[in-house]
Amino acid sequence: MATSVVLQKVEKRYGSLDVIHGIDLTIDPGEFTVFVGPSGCGKSTLLRMIAGLEEISGGALLLDNERMNEVAPAKRGIAMVFQSYALYPHMSVYKNLAFGLETAGYKKAEIEPKVRRAAEILQIEKLLERKPKALSGGQRQRVAIGRAIVREPRIFLFDEPLSNLDAELRVQMRVEISRLHSSLGNTMIYVTHDQVEAMTMADKIVVLNSGRIEQVGAPLDLYNNPANRFVAGFIGSPKMNFLKAKIDQVNDGDTTVSVCGSAIRLPRRLKGSAGQDVTFGIRPEHLGVADAGTALATVNVDLVENLGGATMLYTTTPDGQQLTIALDGQQKVERGTNVKTSFDPARCHVFDASGATI
Ligand SMILES: Nc1ncnc2c1ncn2[C@@H]1O[C@H](COP(=O)(O)OP(=O)(O)OP(=O)(O)O)[C@@H](O)[C@H]1O
Ligand SMILES: [Mg+2]
Repeated sequence: MATSVVLQKVEKRYGSLDVIHGIDLTIDPGEFTVFVGPSGCGKSTLLRMIAGLEEISGGALLLDNERMNEVAPAKRGIAMVFQSYALYPHMSVYKNLAFGLETAGYKKAEIEPKVRRAAEILQIEKLLERKPKALSGGQRQRVAIGRAIVREPRIFLFDEPLSNLDAELRVQMRVEISRLHSSLGNTMIYVTHDQVEAMTMADKIVVLNSGRIEQVGAPLDLYNNPANRFVAGFIGSPKMNFLKAKIDQVNDGDTTVSVCGSAIRLPRRLKGSAGQDVTFGIRPEHLGVADAGTALATVNVDLVENLGGATMLYTTTPDGQQLTIALDGQQKVERGTNVKTSFDPARCHVFDASGATI
């Protein structure tokens, strides 16, 4: 049975410094939850409080509805995998996997099947006799995950476990961790800076900013319906474009907004009023250079990136704002030329001065 995790008004203070400001969060049993947010926003601190490696300054942590604040880390049934996975260099892979169980007092005969099973899940059976220095980075990270698996925890916590690996290995390990989650079914919480990891691995993404939650939701919910400008800019890669805009007119079924000198009719009523300064948001992949859709502006192309599967245009609008356009496939666009850009008005976002989506 997988375990639920509930944070109730959880706070963290280091002396007089408040770093986590009352977080409320429910993670359902078996859910794969990803914490994202800028450096220093409190992701690791939250994980460490859940693991019991940091004291909780205020509020409550419940696992399966049982308060854990005062429970010792070893009694919580949690295993944590870190970015810097310090394996014991003088021990074989087998011994690295077995060591934690030995110190916890398990007998040899109990340890062996646990180690074999973890090695099988991670496909490192053939490496058990090797020392860590004879392993690749990905294999070492698998051993580190194996050390968590042998403990049969009810919850796995991962703090940027793949950030030391090269791009190709990251992709491979990302798929393996997702597979591990579907075969074990445990509750997992995963911290990452990587957009693709967050979007592809998560059942639920928690976007954090300066010790507070900005939004919680399924990856595509956050992508399609960001609650505010922060989430809109944080979820999705390349980043959403933000342009200065003003509301011209609000009607029952539509709103006219002026952006880059064009008056644009949006097919919905915005929660704002005529004359109000707003920010207009549109994702690079939702902009086109064909005549289809609503014209946004004629922009000057500063730089073209041909990625093979996509073409990125870095452009400047007539009023001097930066606009990134992502086109499918290989497009012939010359640097220094002007292109007309258009979009589907149903796909844009508008934010008020406080950053809230309106
Ligand atoms: N022991 C400590 N004493 C004082 N402040 C701390 C301590 N540990 C962390 N902090 C502060 O708490 C805040 C949150 O840190 P945390 O490590 O949780 O950030 P993070 O989101 O994991 O960042 P990163 O993405 O860089 O790993 C930061 O401002 C950090 O400086
Ligand atoms: Mg961290």
